[in-house]
Amino acid sequence: MHLILLGPPGGGKGTQAKLLQDEYGLVQLSTGDMLRAAIASGSAIGQQAKEVMASGKLVSDDIVIGIVAERIEQPDAKRGFIMDGFPRTTAQAEALDALLKARKRRIDAAIEVQVPDSLIVERIAGRFTCKKCGTGYHEKFHRPKVEGTCDVCGSHEFFRRPDDNAQAVQVRLDAYHRLTAPLIPYYERQGLLHRVDGTLPIEEVTQRLKAILAEARAHS
Ligand code: AP5
Repeated sequence: MHLILLGPPGGGKGTQAKLLQDEYGLVQLSTGDMLRAAIASGSAIGQQAKEVMASGKLVSDDIVIGIVAERIEQPDAKRGFIMDGFPRTTAQAEALDALLKARKRRIDAAIEVQVPDSLIVERIAGRFTCKKCGTGYHEKFHRPKVEGTCDVCGSHEFFRRPDDNAQAVQVRLDAYHRLTAPLIPYYERQGLLHRVDGTLPIEEVTQRLKAILAEARAHS
């Protein structure tokens, strides 16, 4: 199965992709995580992306499409994926369609996680992530079960993203509305679009996503 999670920054795409991937034998493909790994490795792509990401703007289509084209060829992605944060522009969506078509694969569902801008700043300001395994938490909505200890890997080290500040969040929201929101009608025209209310509690959003996946699987 090939799924796309659409939605604003801080909307819960990464949280849900992580919860769904094991159950469905899919891999989460987060272009944000791939770019952050490129920055951490000091690669040429990472150097190009670093400033752009910190400002909240989008990295160029060429770079991101190149990363995804390589990643979907990996064995784990051949079993199916959940795209988290890609595509983000019409050019990226068209490139993904072409990449999949050439491999006789196709998208089964594109799901918009709907969260109003008014909730986004609180979501992003409270986010922190396990340094070792990447599990995401929130100061108010999703705290580790044992204070200061990651539920998944037991690490005690957490980090906050450099683009999770008020100024960059506004730029990210602007980029979302101008460049990514047009993908909602793009997938609607193809009969692939589903919507979930991303303001519900995390577990409730997961249940609704599972219902959509069951329907998509029945039609695939
Ligand atoms: P990226 O890493 O993709 O960030 P984003 O889209 O801004 O999304 P986030 O990761 O911030 O949010 P999310 O929706 O995953 O929310 P989360 O689950 O963490 O991209 C970063 C940058 O990389 C971009 O700005 C750009 O520069 C570059 N980039 C990446 N992809 C690109 C592309 N394709 N093209 C060009 N540039 C690209 O949840 C947020 C918080 O809320 C967490 O603390 C979580 O615990 C909490 N939470 C989640 N769900 C709920 C809920 N239902 N109720 C209460 N709290 C919740």
